[in-house]
Amino acid sequence: MRKLAVLTGGGDCPGLNAVLRAVVRTARNYGLEVVGILDGFKGAIEKEFKPLDLQDVSGILPRGGTILGTSNRDNPFAYWTERAGQEVREDRSDEVIQNLADLGVDVLIVIGGDGSLNIALELAQKGLKVIGVPKTIDNDLLATDYTFGFQSAVETAQDAIDKLHTTAESHHRVMILEVMGRYAGWIALYSGMAGGADVILIPEIPYRIEKVAEAINSRKEKGKKFSIVVVAEGAKPLGGEMVVQSILPDRTDPVKLGGIGAKVAKDLEGLIHLETRVTVLGHIQRGGSPNTYDRVLATRYGVAAVDAALKGTFPTMVALRGNEICEVPLADAVNHIKQIKPDDPVLLAARKLGLSFGD
Ligand code: F6P
Repeated sequence: MRKLAVLTGGGDCPGLNAVLRAVVRTARNYGLEVVGILDGFKGAIEKEFKPLDLQDVSGILPRGGTILGTSNRDNPFAYWTERAGQEVREDRSDEVIQNLADLGVDVLIVIGGDGSLNIALELAQKGLKVIGVPKTIDNDLLATDYTFGFQSAVETAQDAIDKLHTTAESHHRVMILEVMGRYAGWIALYSGMAGGADVILIPEIPYRIEKVAEAINSRKEKGKKFSIVVVAEGAKPLGGEMVVQSILPDRTDPVKLGGIGAKVAKDLEGLIHLETRVTVLGHIQRGGSPNTYDRVLATRYGVAAVDAALKGTFPTMVALRGNEICEVPLADAVNHIKQIKPDDPVLLAARKLGLSFGD
């Protein structure tokens, strides 16, 4: 084996550059070449490649984003291509395989969430040697305890909760914070616990607005004339639906969630007698420098991805189990998402603390 290619796909998150740095440093240590693919799978089709050497990754460990660029709309199996003045979707996956073969690439390392890793698996089924690295702030990938990026996003959300606390208390208000996470409530649960939220609403536990109001009113009766409600973007009322902000058909996941915070505030009207304000944290959760945990995890994943490529079992994904980095079949990591189970230890601890989940 002589040459590795690496790409970052899907939504960005803190720690992508830390993985890239670790991949290049480890590979160079073994005498391997590395080529970066720009803007996710798009670069593999459009032949946008960049050789990566030690100087290219120097100083990038603390930097957010990705030096390679990324994309969550460019699926080679349904790639938007202009034909006779019209944009149509075409299967251009064979070009990916051919372009990488022309470059002399032996193994492709895909740093991505379930969208990009699903594409990686399909390419593997066509013969490409692939190693996956689990990335996403949502922490919703199966087969790994933690994805990198998650802990940094939680820290950002926790910081927002801390700040909302002081103003909530001063004004005797209910502060609703809408956080990301897609169809899983990990960011809401962890940041809510770390920030001392009073109510946490997550997709896994459909809520009843009366129960949310009950929690806020009972605090008020005890003299706490403010409350903090953390709402995951995918949360939904019992018997109701998630709030969809828009449908973006060109995306690997066309559903763009958003707006549940405003719905909760509206539905609380008349049920509580405190003013309510809504904050939507948005992409701040995806930006900025990775925290210590993510720097270490991302670095370990990058090293392990090169080791896995050398070991030669494909397609696999590097994963964290306990404190060990291991390899798991890529197929085990994709297709289903990891949600919070009713017996999740953090969820159970939060319940024992008296936090309300609106159920
Ligand atoms: O998957 C990461 C994530 O940030 C989700 O939490 C969120 O639903 C989505 O991506 C937002 O995507 P976009 O960057 O396209 O708005």
